[in-house]
Amino acid sequence: MKESAHPPAPVLCGLGTWLPPHVVTNDDLSQELDTCDEWIRSRTGIGRRHVVQPGVATSNLAVEAGRRALKSAGMETVDAVIVATTTPDRQCPATAPLVASELGLGTVPAFDVGAVCTGFLYALATAAGFLATGSARTVMVIGADTYSSILDPTDRSTRAIFGDGAGAVVLRPGRTNEPGALGRVELASDGRGSDLIMVPSGGSRDPIRAETADRADPYFRMEGKKVFRNAVERMAEASLAVAERFGWGVDDIDLLVAHQANIRIMHAVADRLALPRSRCHVHLDRVGNTAAASIPLALADAAVAGSLRPGDRVVTTAFGGGLTWGAAALRWPDICPA
Ligand code: UT7
Repeated sequence: MKESAHPPAPVLCGLGTWLPPHVVTNDDLSQELDTCDEWIRSRTGIGRRHVVQPGVATSNLAVEAGRRALKSAGMETVDAVIVATTTPDRQCPATAPLVASELGLGTVPAFDVGAVCTGFLYALATAAGFLATGSARTVMVIGADTYSSILDPTDRSTRAIFGDGAGAVVLRPGRTNEPGALGRVELASDGRGSDLIMVPSGGSRDPIRAETADRADPYFRMEGKKVFRNAVERMAEASLAVAERFGWGVDDIDLLVAHQANIRIMHAVADRLALPRSRCHVHLDRVGNTAAASIPLALADAAVAGSLRPGDRVVTTAFGGGLTWGAAALRWPDICPA
């Protein structure tokens, strides 16, 4: 048998999403915290977010999105499941095996990827490796987060931003030039900024024990301004790199789907690239920053709204804790998000 010179390209062939039904508006938040709709909208672009009810965990959101991704792909099963999340159901074990079982996928390989808001792109690259080596014929990648479980109820700066949700894609091997084919995913990290976004206590650095619980900080903390500056620079660099690798100039990019952290960040990235802001998809006004779920949710929103049509050239990019960042480019496939 003749061996192919090129490994198969990972092709996106299904997309499903899930948002918990409970909506928290900016006005709702202003009933509890010293904030207001005007501040949140003008500083972040966010109008509302979805939040889980007590007892609902990340795996529940991931399963709903995963089920819809299978439907969108017209498949009943996949060979592997990767869940990108910062808010697993439990610190141990990973959430993906439970998700795979709940989806009825039997004993397929399943594991989590932790790269905070860049997790979905890291998981895509990992899935591409499974396909390239033939370790799996189809892989489901789910970005799912329940940030409401780690936010400080008294912190207006983080509670205004984050929402819960999940988005899932199915990848299969295909040809490098077919719609949906992903090129090399651009990924990077810089651990020197690891304390800019963190949950200080609860890990091995500062375990929460009964005798020290009163001084533990189990909540998500972010140095917003420093993160902002880094996010703009890094997402712009990574977006340019993946576009160039596809042989695209900035004018060729039909839609930029950036991690939905802050509309000012997304517009600054577009400005840096000299891409019209109108080609930067905005979804955070309705869902906030959904962390690892942000990119698949925004892709689905763009496709359903008709802003992303089959054949369109799309660049997607993210930045998050770690610090981590990355980007991926593809021609949009002819799929119906579910
Ligand atoms: O997803 C991972 C990546 N994350 C990001 O990319 C997030 C990046 N950072 C940001 O989006 C912005 O930095 C924030 C939205 C987090 C904050 O906006 P900012 O314009 O950088 O505000 P700031 O943190 O400098 O705060 C300005 C003021 C402060 O008051 P003082 O100290 O000037 O009196 C804050 O206490 O705004 C205050 N503030 C608020 N006021 C009303 C912060 N949050 C709120 C709020 N409502 N929700």
